[in-house]
Amino acid sequence: MAEDGVLALSVSDTVEQAEFSQRVLIRSILGRPDGGAGLAGQTLKVGGWVKKGREQGKGSFAFLELNDGSCPANLQLMIYSDVAALGQLTPTGTCLHVEGVLQMPPADKQGKQSIELKVLKVLDVGTVDPAKYPLPKTRLTLEFLRDYVHLRPRTNTIAAIARIRNALAYATHTFFQKHGFLYVHTPIITTSDCEGAGEMFQVTTLINEMEKKEKDLIKNPPPSQEDVDLAKSVAKGKGEIVAKLKSDKAGKPEITAAIAQLTKAKENLSKLEERFNSEPGIAKKDGKVDYGEDFFGRQAFLTVSGQLQVETFACALSSVYTFGPTFRAENSHTSRHLAEFWMVEPEIAFADIEDDMKCAEAYVRFLCQWLLDNCLDDMEFMVEKFDKNAIKRLQMVASTNFVRLSYTEAIATLEEVVSKGHKFENEVEWGIDLASEHEKYLTEVKFESPVIVYNYPKGIKAFYMKVNPDKKTVAAMDVLVPKVGVLLDAFLVLHFTEMYVGELIGGSQREENYEVIKERILEMGLPLEPYEWYLDLRRYGTVKHSGFGLGFERMILFATGIDNIRDVIPFPRYPGRADL
Ligand code: 4AD
Ligand code: MG
Repeated sequence: MAEDGVLALSVSDTVEQAEFSQRVLIRSILGRPDGGAGLAGQTLKVGGWVKKGREQGKGSFAFLELNDGSCPANLQLMIYSDVAALGQLTPTGTCLHVEGVLQMPPADKQGKQSIELKVLKVLDVGTVDPAKYPLPKTRLTLEFLRDYVHLRPRTNTIAAIARIRNALAYATHTFFQKHGFLYVHTPIITTSDCEGAGEMFQVTTLINEMEKKEKDLIKNPPPSQEDVDLAKSVAKGKGEIVAKLKSDKAGKPEITAAIAQLTKAKENLSKLEERFNSEPGIAKKDGKVDYGEDFFGRQAFLTVSGQLQVETFACALSSVYTFGPTFRAENSHTSRHLAEFWMVEPEIAFADIEDDMKCAEAYVRFLCQWLLDNCLDDMEFMVEKFDKNAIKRLQMVASTNFVRLSYTEAIATLEEVVSKGHKFENEVEWGIDLASEHEKYLTEVKFESPVIVYNYPKGIKAFYMKVNPDKKTVAAMDVLVPKVGVLLDAFLVLHFTEMYVGELIGGSQREENYEVIKERILEMGLPLEPYEWYLDLRRYGTVKHSGFGLGFERMILFATGIDNIRDVIPFPRYPGRADL
């Protein structure tokens, strides 16, 4: 197994060999409590991309900072010019797969590194032309990087966000699995509008069909009236021949042959007539688009939420959750909205709004603690580069009970500050949808903590939410989170105005009463037919149940302090942009 007698050494109890890949993860070297110092003398292979490279000693050797994405830190490589041509190794972005020996850097060159790799052999190089590489090493803005979504994972920030995002996904499954929830895959293509807000992307092949038809008509022009008339008279003639043969009592084979010719002529005529009558454009019926001709035989959309479908499993398997992409065609250009985002949606049977709030709070706190326990190096990076309160905020959320107040209490609180002279752009009165400035005031100024607002006016919430005994409110809840940490001064509160995350979670107890929910669907002006299956859940064996949806990217914004949602999803989709 020893290759040049070196591999045997590299496989030690202390270095984690990357599985299914021919190298050691840099994390397993630099992530040790001693920073890797105890591994000095070991020979191993690493692979990664050069962050920074510089030739020294008049070109006799070079130092390269190598990053493989396994951790924020770079491994320093030292390479002599007799091992490889140094010029092609130093440009930022160069990919290297090398073998070398770990050594303590000379005392005067130690700097931040407690270990470096002296390269003995360059196994592979992926070169970069520094004159053309779009991501030179100067600090680039996140906005600039959005034009290079295919290369931006190589930047420290996008890489750290990717690791945090991965950790939060793992934490999500861990939390729900630990609490006995079953993971259900809900459909991406749906025929029901969950939120009833009409913000859905349509899924259709009618447009492709139309374009195909139009192209075909150009290549193969429709027949003229004369062509059709001619085919008609041919068919008529063939019919007459058959009639004549029959009246002449001709032989059977003769009649059969004539009938075959008549059939062919009729087929030809009907084909010509069909093409003669075919009109360019989308299939229509009674002046409206004919969705019966569409791929699914009916109108279909990309889902805005997996909730309605996951309810079918909650009403059989009790505690379930779905976690997948959701799509909203709202034309929002804010730093908190995406057209494609991921949502975590638990749905719990035999649970009311209280249970729902408890679950939401426990889940969010679990996520925060998870990042503190598993992603501290990336969080430290965030603190250094983006938000000095990011770690404090996670600690605060992980350890404090969320404030809970009813919508009516929230309005009263806001009215009180207005009466004391506080100015909001949007008027405060019972019945309004809370604007982000209101939510921000509650979470960042009044309570300095996550706040759960519950029992909203039914007029501003979705049809499926449980109507409260007051008949005016529904058992809905929103988890609102502050972006700034508790310790910020007034200047920073103002400075971070644009960074507000706001609504992290929206959820509710579901209306389980058949009559009431049917009434609510009609009241909202929605058609009953597409919801018949949903009503069946109430018709047969109905159960009290509740659930919520956590916007996964909003959670990442909240955790990291990054201020634009387009930078916390690998491939952002928003009005005007869907790169790759
Ligand atoms: O409040 P929403 O619309 O709730 C639902 O969709 C429910 N069906 C969930 C459920 O009860 N199962 O959306 C839930 C969360 C919001 O609180 C927000 O965090 C996030 O999804 N969200 C968005 N995130 C990014 N971009 C958008 N356009 C978003 N719209 C909602
Ligand atoms: Mg909502």
